[in-house]
Parts: sequence; structure tokens; C-alpha cells
Amino acid sequence: MNKFLIRSPLYRCLILTLIIAFTSLFYTRKSTVIYKNNFNNLDVSTPDSDISTPDFNDPTSNFLKKEWINPAKDISLYQKTSRANAALVVLVRNSELHDIRSSMRQLEDRWNKKFNYPYVFLNDKEFTEEFKIKTSALTKGKTYYGLIPKEMWSYPDWINQTRAAEERRKMHEAQVIYGGSESYRHMCRFNSGFFFLHPLLLQFDYYWRLEPQVQFMCDIDYDPFLFMQKNKLIYGFTISLYEFQSTIPTLWKTVKNFIKEYPQFIPKDNIMNFISDDGGKEYNLCHFWSNFEIADLNFWRNTPYREFFNYLDKSGGFFYERWGDAPVHSIAIALFNQKSKVHFFNDIAYMHEPYLHCPIQPESHETGRCHCNPNKNIDFDFYSCNQKWFEIK
Ligand SMILES: *[C@@H]1O[C@H](CO)[C@@H](O)[C@H](O)[C@H]1NC(C)=O
Repeated sequence: MNKFLIRSPLYRCLILTLIIAFTSLFYTRKSTVIYKNNFNNLDVSTPDSDISTPDFNDPTSNFLKKEWINPAKDISLYQKTSRANAALVVLVRNSELHDIRSSMRQLEDRWNKKFNYPYVFLNDKEFTEEFKIKTSALTKGKTYYGLIPKEMWSYPDWINQTRAAEERRKMHEAQVIYGGSESYRHMCRFNSGFFFLHPLLLQFDYYWRLEPQVQFMCDIDYDPFLFMQKNKLIYGFTISLYEFQSTIPTLWKTVKNFIKEYPQFIPKDNIMNFISDDGGKEYNLCHFWSNFEIADLNFWRNTPYREFFNYLDKSGGFFYERWGDAPVHSIAIALFNQKSKVHFFNDIAYMHEPYLHCPIQPESHETGRCHCNPNKNIDFDFYSCNQKWFEIK
């Protein structure tokens, strides 16, 4: 899932209806509990006016468990003399110039003006001069502008394009989100299998993925890249949620076949519990929302993931279905890693319509570090997988 589908008015309307219906159920239940805890002596029968009271009493003990490392507490990450070998990665069209400027401005103000990490902009068409001038003007970091090579954004020879077009038409008629879009599929496949091999990215070890029209609502005073490097982390996320089953009918079957053929790549203590509730029989649809990622480029470049991507790619699901890079990335991260290699960036407030991650700890707001509304935080809503993330071992 990402920006393209969120912009569809039909989708918005649908999801909004769902959200309203379910959140009212959810909050009625939750706020009653909060009421009982906080105001034992008061009447608990009318929680309506209190529907957005977050549970500030018990946030850290509930989900930031002991093993969770808090980067903000590591003073070595605040120095500005050494840098990680890292870049911001932006897949963007010329027409999205002002939406990406908005994202950049916020990320610069909140964080990168202190560190000046470079940007790598990628596009399947040449960037215009205007695009280059108006984006590079926003940062002191170096800016690179790259064209995506044709072979990273086209049909491999084993894909039957007649069938692909038929499947797109069927998915469009079935109103699968972006089911009819060809470019969306090339984008998902590029983000799944190729961005880390783009010539401009080969020089880097870590990346932070940035999209147009997102918001950052907390100051980040430390260097998340150094944090990843120092702790040998592979992947960092803020939001996780459930994928639409209709976009990935045969993905899990294909993954299971891969596991059978390549057991040597799958460590016993991996994070299967996050993506499956029955030990791997079924995919529970949980995935990290990959429009935000701070991660290790070499994980994607190494053999297990390369084999994994090639295996999926050969099956044709990127074109005959509509596999997103979010479930593909997330399943790989979970299969090949231990939980300690993945970090939840609680302190980075991130908004990608319609979802927000906002730290609920009072000090994030009392110090003026953040300006997001913690009541709108998605972490504890029914369509977030973060609770599962906090619970699993
Ligand atoms: C390609 O797909 C179409 C439609 O499903 C089918 O009729 C055709 O036989 C396929 N071609 C090949 C070479 O498999």
C-alpha cells in the first residue's frame, strides 16, 4: 500500500467508513476501561465525550519492552563528526515536485539540517531542470538524480503480457485497489527487487525512504543511520498494518514453496510470529508500511533476499496479481531475521495519509519536541499490527 492508492477517492471513502465504524466500537470499549482505571468513583456510563483519551498511564511498560533500545539515550549518536554511509531515497515523478518539497522541508527542519545526508532521487522519466533546482535548494546535503534503467521497470521475458493485461482488467472490475494499474506494478516490483541495485545507490550502505506528501512531526536530534550501524540493525519502521488479501492471492503459497526449497536461509529464531498466527500455515497479512523505511541496503543485496525476490518474480505475481513491496519486504525481513534486528522508531512521528504514528509518551509533547496529536496515533487501532509486534517474542 502507498500513496497512489490512498489518493483514490473511492478508497478513501471506503476506508473512512470502515474506520469510523470500527473506531467507534473500539474506543467505546477502550475508553470505558480507561474510565474505570482513572476515575473509579465516577459514572462510567457516558464515555462519549472522552472517546479520544489515550492511555497515558501505561504506554512504555506495555509496548516498549526492556530489550527495546532507545536511540535518544545514546549520546554517541548526537555527534556530527562521523557519518554513516547513507542516503535518503526518493522514488518520485516530476509532477510530484511540490509534494516532495513539502516532505523534504519537514525532514530537513526536523532532522537532516543537523546532519546533511545526501538524497538520491529516482524516476522512470528524466527529471526536469526545475525539479532539480527546486529540490536541491532545500538541502545542504548532496543531491543525485537518476533515471531508472529500463530492465528495472519493464516486463521480464517470462511474463505473458496478454495474460497480465487480462488479470489487470479482472482486478479492476473486481475493484481491487490499483488492480488495473500497470505502472503501479512496475513500481512495486522496482521497490521490491531493484532500487538497492540502482547505480546511484550502490555506493551506500543504509537508506531512509522518503515519499511525497508525508509529514514529520517530531525533532530528531540523533543520527538514526549511526544508530542502525552501531546496533547492527537491518530494518526500522513506524507503522504496520494489514494487507488486502485480494492483491496477493498466491503470495503466501509461493513463499511457503520458497521456504521448502531454501531452508538454509531461514533461521529458527526468525520473526514468523509477526506474519503468521499459526506457525506459518497462513499469512496474517501483517506488514511494515514500507513508504517509511530506515534500513540496511546490503540486506536486500545479499543472497537470501536476492534468491527470494527472484523466486517471487519468476512466479509472475508482481504482474498477474498485484504484489506490493510492503508485504514482500516485510515477509523477507521476518523470515530471515531475529526480532532484535528490527527497530520500531517510536520517537519519529510520521504521517502518510491516512495514518499517523505519533509517540504517546507525555514527555515527547511536554518538551515541545513533537506537535502531532497522540490521540490520532494508529498503533493501538485494530488495523495496526504494532500491538502484535510489541507482544511477540
Ligand atoms: C498468454 O496468455 C493468453 C491469455 O491467458 C493465452 O491465451 C496464451 O496462450 C498465452 N501465451 C503463451 C505463450 O503461453
